[in-house]
Amino acid sequence: MKPSESLKIDAFSMRIADIEDVELERLHALSLSVGWPHRAEDWQFLRGSGQGFVALDEIGRVLGSAMWFGHGSGFATVGMVITSPRLQTLGAGQWLMKRVFEKVGGRDLRLNATRAARRLYLSLDFQPEKTVYQCQGVVRAPAMGDPAEARRDIRTLDASDVPAAIALDASAFGVSRTALIEKLFAHSVGYGLFDGNKLTAFALCRPFGRGHVVGPVVAERDADAVAILRPHVADHSGSFLRVDTHMHSGEFAAFLSHAGMPVFDTVLTMSLGKRLADFAALGEAGPKTYALASQTLG
Ligand SMILES: CC(C)(COP(=O)(O)OP(=O)(O)OC[C@H]1O[C@@H](n2cnc3c(N)ncnc32)[C@H](O)[C@@H]1OP(=O)(O)O)[C@@H](O)C(=O)NCCC(=O)NCCS
Repeated sequence: MKPSESLKIDAFSMRIADIEDVELERLHALSLSVGWPHRAEDWQFLRGSGQGFVALDEIGRVLGSAMWFGHGSGFATVGMVITSPRLQTLGAGQWLMKRVFEKVGGRDLRLNATRAARRLYLSLDFQPEKTVYQCQGVVRAPAMGDPAEARRDIRTLDASDVPAAIALDASAFGVSRTALIEKLFAHSVGYGLFDGNKLTAFALCRPFGRGHVVGPVVAERDADAVAILRPHVADHSGSFLRVDTHMHSGEFAAFLSHAGMPVFDTVLTMSLGKRLADFAALGEAGPKTYALASQTLG
C-alpha cells in the first residue's frame, strides 16, 4: 500500500532542566538552529556568568533555553531566550520566561529583544526603551586626523585597572556589575583613557561569534569613546569586529561605519520594572555606555 502523503505527529511534552546540566554542543546546536553566531565557547562564557533553564523533550533533546544574569539583589538582564523553530508560537517561550520570573525574585529586568521576540515580551509587560544598533563587518582603521593626537593617555589595561573599570561601568550602566566585568577582563584585551592616574574611559574586546566583539565601551563623550575604540579597530584590521550600541548618531556612530562596521541589524532594549540610570542620563554629563557588553549581557 502506498504510504500516506501526510503524517500527524502528536504534541509532545517537555521538561525543564538546569542549563548547567546539558552539553555545550547541544546548546550550540540550539543557537545555530535560529541562525545565531555563538560558538560553544560563547555559551560556556555565558553559563559561567549567569544562570538558566533549558527545555528538554522526552529523549533529552534541547528545544529551548532562557538565561538571566543577576547584578546585586535588585537587577538582572535576561538573554539567550530561544525556542527551536519547529516549536515556535506554541507557548514554549512564555513558559520559559515564566520560569525565569519565578527565579529572579522581583528584580528589575532588562533584555534586548529581537523582532521575533517583541510580542512575547510585550505580553509579559516589558516596556520598549531604546534601539540597539548591531554594527559589524571587516574593519579597517580610519586614518587619524592629526598624528600628534596619537594619544599618550591611552594604554592597555591590566588586572590592577579592574576596580576602576567596575566603578566607571557602574556609574554609566546604573548598577554595579562586579563579577561580570572581572570575568570580561579575563577574556578581553582592554584599552583605557587616563586623566593622570584616573581611568576616564575604557573599551574591552574579546573573541565572540564570527570574530571579536568590542564591549563594554564606557566614556564621557563621543571623542573619548572613539579614541578607545580606535586601537581595537587597528588591532583587528582586516578581520570581523562587532559593536552593539544605543548610539544612532554623533561621532561614535559615524566612526563605526567609517571603520567598516555598518548597522547590520537592530534589536530593542526593553525593561520590566525600574529604568536604569544609563537611559535616564543619556544626554547629560558623566560616563555613558557607548557599547553593550553584548546583546545578551546588556
Ligand atoms: C522569540 C522566541 C523565543 C519566541 O518563542 P515562542 O516559543 O515562539 O513563544 P510563544 O509561543 O510563547 O509566543 C509568545 C507570544 O508571541 C506570539 N507569537 C509568537 N510567534 C508569533 C507569530 N509568528 N505570529 C504571531 N504571533 C506570534 C504568541 O502568540 C504569543 O503571544 P501571546 O502571549 O499574546 O499569546 C522564538 O521565536 C525564538 O527562539 N526565536 C529566535 C531566537 C530569538 O529571536 N530569540 C529572542 C531573543 S530576545
